[in-house]
Amino acid sequence: MHLTPEQLEQFDRDGYLFFPGLFSTEEIRTLTEAVPALYARREAYNVREKGSDAVRTNFAAHMYSEPFARLARHPRMVQPVMDLFDEQVYMHQFKINGKMAFEGDVWQWHQDYGTWLNDDMMPTERAMNVAIFLDDVNEFNGPLMFIPGSHKKGVVDARHDLSTTSYPLWTVDNHLIAQLVERAGGKQGGIVSPKGPPGSMILFHSCLVHASTSNLSPWNRVSVYLSLCAVSNHIRRHKRPEYIAHRDFTPIACLPDDCLRLPYPVDLPWRDGLPASALQTSSVPFADMKQAA
Ligand code: SIN
Ligand code: MN
Repeated sequence: MHLTPEQLEQFDRDGYLFFPGLFSTEEIRTLTEAVPALYARREAYNVREKGSDAVRTNFAAHMYSEPFARLARHPRMVQPVMDLFDEQVYMHQFKINGKMAFEGDVWQWHQDYGTWLNDDMMPTERAMNVAIFLDDVNEFNGPLMFIPGSHKKGVVDARHDLSTTSYPLWTVDNHLIAQLVERAGGKQGGIVSPKGPPGSMILFHSCLVHASTSNLSPWNRVSVYLSLCAVSNHIRRHKRPEYIAHRDFTPIACLPDDCLRLPYPVDLPWRDGLPASALQTSSVPFADMKQAA
């Protein structure tokens, strides 16, 4: 799938593109069916909500689950991102966010690139977020909210929040959010939240400011978030475990377009468990930093 000039212009202006129902119900079903067994695992890669057993985020399923490994190589998702960067991409992060009925907690206002810069030393914002809905997303189950055009501000001030939820995040303060929303149109479009059926996809800029509220509805809002980074822009530090910020910078080799319907073979390096190395971290940038400077 390639982007049209109109879509490229829209992405530049708003910082996101929405593709309702891009994947069919049949294509999405194998993914949705695999989630409960992944969430049931007692592994470091399942981060649970504060004070609850509900999974907030499952990391790195593409390393140990066949359907998700195929999704990670899907041309409908990867090709437009390569087009935008005019470069091959690798998988920086892979999450299945639960936002489970009644228990799914908030994601505070943030930019993803803020975290990738501060924690992972990713040199520039040449990395893209992709969200793929596995459930219906409606106004009640905590849809993702964007401030259109906020990516144009580059990296904004943020504070490392280690306490509000069960997942540490560099968050943007309320005063700045109010300014950004006003600048984007206030009550007329200053906040948007793409909603749609399972199989919908959003591409959003790594500097786009976003958040989501808690889910008090009786409907799960499971979505996959993939972060694709231009290969030359790979991270320079392993401060976070490998299941959160990946260390294999090999370009993604796409499978055919029907890869969610046919069982193409895929490599599953963590099928038998996380290797000890995936838990090791270091706050020292690795040697490559010198070349990047
Ligand atoms: C994220 O910002 O990474 C996740 C937000 C969400 O799941 O609502
Ligand atoms: Mn985010």
